[in-house]
Amino acid sequence: MDTVRVAALVGSLREDSYTRLACRRALAAADEYDRAETDLIDLRRLDLPVYDSDRDEPGDTGELLDRVERADSILLGSPNYHGSYSSPLKNALDYCGFDEFENTTVGLLVVAGGSFPTSALDHLRIVARAVNAWVLPHQVAVPNVSSRFEDGELADERYAERVDTLGRRLVEYANIEPDPPTLESESNLGADD
Ligand SMILES: Cc1cc2nc3c(=O)[nH]c(=O)nc-3n(C[C@H](O)[C@H](O)[C@H](O)COP(=O)(O)O)c2cc1C
Repeated sequence: MDTVRVAALVGSLREDSYTRLACRRALAAADEYDRAETDLIDLRRLDLPVYDSDRDEPGDTGELLDRVERADSILLGSPNYHGSYSSPLKNALDYCGFDEFENTTVGLLVVAGGSFPTSALDHLRIVARAVNAWVLPHQVAVPNVSSRFEDGELADERYAERVDTLGRRLVEYANIEPDPPTLESESNLGADD
């Protein structure tokens, strides 16, 4: 059976990030399939200047694009910042386009210090559809996130099960038949190289 490559882009740079812990857990669930190969893309380790369309692939952009393009499915993980997703993730996504995301399966995961993480999921879904990614219906929002973790582990069973399911779906739906392009993608003039 063909290998399924699952990557996670982690949108928090914080050392003890709950987003990173949750993404690691999702990748571990994906890894339970023998055919899965996983890659956690830690944006702290990449030199990605603030996106400037006058600059052609500065810093470690080439590595980012290679790793995202190689993936059959990609988990976008972010903290909720001001009701949306984080600037490190937005910056990384702005370097990407159709080459990296078209017909790629995308999973969404957002953690929040407070109670309403869902708007950030909506925003990520819109961005993913603009580059013709196939976004999984199942998505994970972890509200009041600090209360869900104990000693670096997602201790709240209800959320742990949701994260594990997301990891499994990223493998199960990695090679889904593509849909026709979205109307919004036809207006996405920046997504072509
Ligand atoms: C700039 C900033 C904005 C934030 N905005 C919100 C917010 O609008 N709603 C919320 O519930 N939490 C908000 N938070 C709290 C984060 O969602 C919370 O600290 C989260 O754990 C950060 O993710 P991380 O642990 O992966 O770094 C904000 C935090 C920061 C630093």
